Amino acid sequence: MFFEPEARLHLGAEAEVWSGSWMGKPAVRKLRRSRAWRHPDLEKRLGYRRMLSEARILVRIKNAGLPVPAVWDVDLENGLIVMEKMNGRPLIDVLRDSNSCQSDIDSALYNSGNAVRRLHRMAVTHGDLSTNNILIDEHNRAYLIDFGLSAVEYEVERFGIDLHVMDEILGASHPNIINGMEKFLHGYLQCDSELGPLSELSGGLPPIAENVLKRLDDVRSRVRYHG
Ligand SMILES: Nc1ncnc2c1ncn2[C@@H]1O[C@H](COP(=O)(O)OP(=O)(O)O)[C@@H](O)[C@H]1O
Ligand SMILES: [Mg+2]
Repeated sequence: MFFEPEARLHLGAEAEVWSGSWMGKPAVRKLRRSRAWRHPDLEKRLGYRRMLSEARILVRIKNAGLPVPAVWDVDLENGLIVMEKMNGRPLIDVLRDSNSCQSDIDSALYNSGNAVRRLHRMAVTHGDLSTNNILIDEHNRAYLIDFGLSAVEYEVERFGIDLHVMDEILGASHPNIINGMEKFLHGYLQCDSELGPLSELSGGLPPIAENVLKRLDDVRSRVRYHG
């Protein structure tokens, strides 16, 4: 690995993330540090498949032009992935910053919804959408990160769940942001108008945006009903 670490960005239960450089370019190195890595048989390590799937999905959607980090190096044996360092700060910081103006917040949310729809149009669900896993740059552009739980998917349910998780987080963690989810969904819906009909992928057609929104409503009422 040509990665030169500079500073630790994050130490979580499952991952340790360092910023640094890779071949002279700003990079981050993510180390999966879960107990699942300790199994002696590589194929049987739980994290192994997750990391392989994270890297594969990232490469595919980056090649399609999505706003996600490029993957530069993967070391499955040691649970390491080196990727492009994206500019910007987590959406959660933008939403909590008392210096953020309303128009910046609005465009950050709109662009986040737009980016998530671009992902969904490629038949990929994120699996762990949160205001921590979307980075916003100085032009309010949105980048998606943390694809450890992402999956290739065609059934509408998981797409609806992605939006529902975002909905819950915007409601619970950012109650001061008025109509946050509406702004996010506006960007989500507009994406289909901008990009036109979906193209057929290897597994068929991913659900159209309207159907994902309908499913979001279903999920919301299920959650209300069952508590
Ligand atoms: N490609 C990246 N560019 C810039 N910052 C990143 C990148 N990947 C991760 N980070 C930073 O590290 C944090 C944790 O990384 P993440 O992939 O979300 O790990 P975890 O699975 O522990 O949540 C992110 O919230 C973000 O602040
Ligand atoms: Mg994360």
